[in-house]
Amino acid sequence: MRRWVLVGSVPAVLLVLVALVITWRTSPSAQVSTTSRPPSPMPSTPPRIGADGIGDPYFPRAGDGGYDVTGYDIQVRYDPSPDRLEGHTTITAQATESLSRFDLDLRLPASAVTVDDRPAGIHQDDGKLEVTPAVPVRAGAPMTVRVDYAGVPSAIPGGPGVPSPWVRTPDGAVAVGEPDIAAWWYPSNDHPSDKATFMITAVVPDGLQVISNGALLGGPEPDGPGRQRWRWQESEPMATYLAFVAIGDYDIVRRDTRFGLYLAAYDRGLDPQVADAARASVERTPEILALLSGIFGPYPFRQLGGVVPEAPTLGFALEDQTRPVYSPTFFASGQDVTVVVHELAHQWFGDSVSVRHWSDIWLNEGFATYAQWLYSERTGGPSAAQTAAQDYDRHPADDAFWRIPPGAPGGAAEVLNNAVYLRGAMALQALRTAVGDQNFFASLRAWATERAGGNGSVQDFLALVKHVSGKDIDDVAQTWLFTPARPPTPPG
Ligand code: ARG
Ligand code: ZN
Repeated sequence: MRRWVLVGSVPAVLLVLVALVITWRTSPSAQVSTTSRPPSPMPSTPPRIGADGIGDPYFPRAGDGGYDVTGYDIQVRYDPSPDRLEGHTTITAQATESLSRFDLDLRLPASAVTVDDRPAGIHQDDGKLEVTPAVPVRAGAPMTVRVDYAGVPSAIPGGPGVPSPWVRTPDGAVAVGEPDIAAWWYPSNDHPSDKATFMITAVVPDGLQVISNGALLGGPEPDGPGRQRWRWQESEPMATYLAFVAIGDYDIVRRDTRFGLYLAAYDRGLDPQVADAARASVERTPEILALLSGIFGPYPFRQLGGVVPEAPTLGFALEDQTRPVYSPTFFASGQDVTVVVHELAHQWFGDSVSVRHWSDIWLNEGFATYAQWLYSERTGGPSAAQTAAQDYDRHPADDAFWRIPPGAPGGAAEVLNNAVYLRGAMALQALRTAVGDQNFFASLRAWATERAGGNGSVQDFLALVKHVSGKDIDDVAQTWLFTPARPPTPPG
């Protein structure tokens, strides 16, 4: 993204001076562009200066702080056998400053972009799609950006030596990943601090199903010979990494619940025993939401469910908004309710209330892990305090485990470190001990309700606990969240 102050009445000599300074500060290599730009009313196309991004300390290149997305209208056509995706995605946004240029995150090759229906200049490099509108967008103005793109998502690695987060399945594919997945199938301002609503439409070969977030608006609907269209809508604000699509041959289960319409999907390619265990686990979603909403406050969404693709290489589950995706490996040796509890707790902590920056990931993983411990405590298993003590004892003081402080794990590579989950949950147990049950649970509920649909940071949460309890929790927070060493005693 580039920012421009619209100069208006400023003398031309100053303008030229500014342009000269900018040109001088920019290395020649940064100006290389493979595509032409439309004529600009500015004296010259402003060069990029340094790295852009929305300002995430761990992912400095992610997103763009120059605009706020209000809605994504993602439209894709997908052919499973060559794994080819063609996309036409429209983004409505508001410029937060004057933009002569801005960035989207997209890894599939883009062929054309329009801004407010006028062709824009594009340059794409290393996951960033740089857009130069024909006319700069004024600060505060709405803009509509349409991006045409196509490619083979599974051919784009997740990093050096890392497989693509777009995973092919026997009949289709599934898009799940954290923090990286959006850029493999749609252009976005790829950062959890810019949440938006989503319309997700996919056209696939006849006989295949498409499952996504939120409400099923339509599908299967005919869309030309041999093709069917599925339309989904997520009308609550959602972080970009939580948008997902699962395409394949699925058995779809629906029923009404007190939380809204439950819709789950099980890949027909699953081993029958795994499929049975997956159903037995995921079908407990409404019952688990009943327990969790008794602790955290009202369930934040109006749809619920889950998806189990035949994608054993996934190996993880993800809290995709309203409908988590579970790797079949969780159910390989029978039911697993714990993972369902974990992903459902994320609907409050992670999805409804999202991190401000990725460094705040404790607010997601520490909380979802602690929810597992609370579930145990409330269903006749060991108490959270017992589980915490056990995990504390399991890790001796010289264990590298203690070197990652969950409140500030240190960098992109540590965001999903085991310590963020486990020690993160211990930290919550320590806070609970420090402020007492009433203050602790009041704080969790206040966090979930006051910030529903928005974002928050670790510091915001600690300030809330302090406010609710009236207690000084600085030492506990320092010891459990920010010190790269084993605390002297278990969390109590
Ligand atoms: N937030 C997910 C969870 O609930 C973690 C996803 C892990 N992602 C990955 N690519 N390994 O556990
Ligand atoms: Zn998690």
